[in-house]
Amino acid sequence: MDRRSFIKSSLLAGSGALARTRGLAARSGELQEPGPGAVRISEMRRARFPDGFLWGMASAAYQVEGAWNLDGKGESNWDRFSHTVGKIKGGATGDVACDQYHRYREDVAILKRLNQKSYRFSTSWARIQPAGTGAVSQRGIDYYSRLTDALLEAGIRPFCTIYHWDLPQALEDRGGWPNRDLASYYADFAGILAKNLGDRITTWAPFNMPWTFTYYGYGVGVFPPGKTSFDQFLKAAHTVNLAQGEAFRSIKAVSRYATVGSAYGMAPAYPKTASEADRAATARYHAMNNLYFLNTAIHGEYPKAFVGETPYEAMGFKPGDGKIMKVPLDWVGFHYYTRRIVSHANERCLSGNVRHYGTETEGGGGSASRDPMTQIHVEMPTEGPLTEAGLEIWPRGIYDLAMQISREYNHPIIEISENGCCYLDAPDETGRVPDTRRIAFHQQILAELARAIADGARVRAYHAWSLVDNFEWTDGYTERYGLTYVDFRNQKRTIKDSGHWYGRVAALNRLDV
Ligand code: FCB
Repeated sequence: MDRRSFIKSSLLAGSGALARTRGLAARSGELQEPGPGAVRISEMRRARFPDGFLWGMASAAYQVEGAWNLDGKGESNWDRFSHTVGKIKGGATGDVACDQYHRYREDVAILKRLNQKSYRFSTSWARIQPAGTGAVSQRGIDYYSRLTDALLEAGIRPFCTIYHWDLPQALEDRGGWPNRDLASYYADFAGILAKNLGDRITTWAPFNMPWTFTYYGYGVGVFPPGKTSFDQFLKAAHTVNLAQGEAFRSIKAVSRYATVGSAYGMAPAYPKTASEADRAATARYHAMNNLYFLNTAIHGEYPKAFVGETPYEAMGFKPGDGKIMKVPLDWVGFHYYTRRIVSHANERCLSGNVRHYGTETEGGGGSASRDPMTQIHVEMPTEGPLTEAGLEIWPRGIYDLAMQISREYNHPIIEISENGCCYLDAPDETGRVPDTRRIAFHQQILAELARAIADGARVRAYHAWSLVDNFEWTDGYTERYGLTYVDFRNQKRTIKDSGHWYGRVAALNRLDV
């Protein structure tokens, strides 16, 4: 089946789901011949999720809150970056974003209406400590306290990601993440949050996608502060590893209910050929992109991500750092968006040789490496259909990843902290948003997740990205991942068909709803 017929059948699968809910008989066999990577509709119908499975949605402070300079909030690196001409598509900023700072009640009501059990949000460090260290803003704490209470009243678990990329600019001015001092500043911040909210929030993830913000920010310069040095990336990542360990302890010290996990970005990687060199390169990709912050926590050691020795000196690694990094995470959270094909790169390169698709990366032109030390060449395949962000839909990837992490880390409790797709569907003349491709996407991914659960992966939660369309980093407002449409001219929310569908899934623990 070619790509065009696959998309057609995906659409049919989505509209089939809708037709069933209106009491029409489902036509059998819409997906009897699935395209590359797709799941058969019969498997989708069989998929079941355990009782108590945590259906959720995710967001991030800078992407949704707005109120960038209200109530004493300090400037963040993303405020500075988005206010710099030429950095964000369309000159967009997060100054207002979805205005969730003022509209959180409306957003929590949507979550409740859609039967959600978990909301993953993040905190803005500069809202709580405007200068990154020292003085705490009570108004900042109060906002997250109100949000937490609203969630709990709605019967929704508050899942707090402490840091989803927005650093107080004052700390960037002191060298940002390559400055090792940030580890203890960050641990103080995490402790402040846990002290003030830890009586009600029990689920904490220190960092969202730590590889992405350190590599994009300091290695290849597409995120703030726009630096392009592999050494700076190594140092930044090491500080973050120390910070993760220190924060684990500072949270647990003040909140006995706290559980601390993660929100890593991961992509299952497959070797381009069966050659030993490609298989070794794939293992290095996995170590660098998926395990660089997980193995350090669980084993207190860097995974083998480099062709040569681990560059401890360039990282700024000191004796005893292994002990600081090592913490028994209570659960492992990761996002899945798409897969990678990896091969061995013959030529090294001096600086980041990457193409980025939003927050996903491929890299290495020709036979060159993506960066100077891993000698990996990374491709984002196009065998399956693509979303409107250009990412390949590969449902099986979530199965492979959940099984691989389960095998390699002794069957931890897993939370899918994000998964989603960009489609630009907008309200039609009746005001409805018929985003059938998004329904088909989630159906497929969730069928593969259910298969991983049936095969022993201890997955307890799934968070769709995202509750609302929002500020999509350097893509500004040109991409829409929400299950709720936002009209950014007037902040009007419209739950998309995918949101209504997902609400029924959450109520029934099944996909054929
Ligand atoms: C993830 C990010 C999230 C959002 C989605 C589309 O990588 O964590 O903030 O940008 O991608």
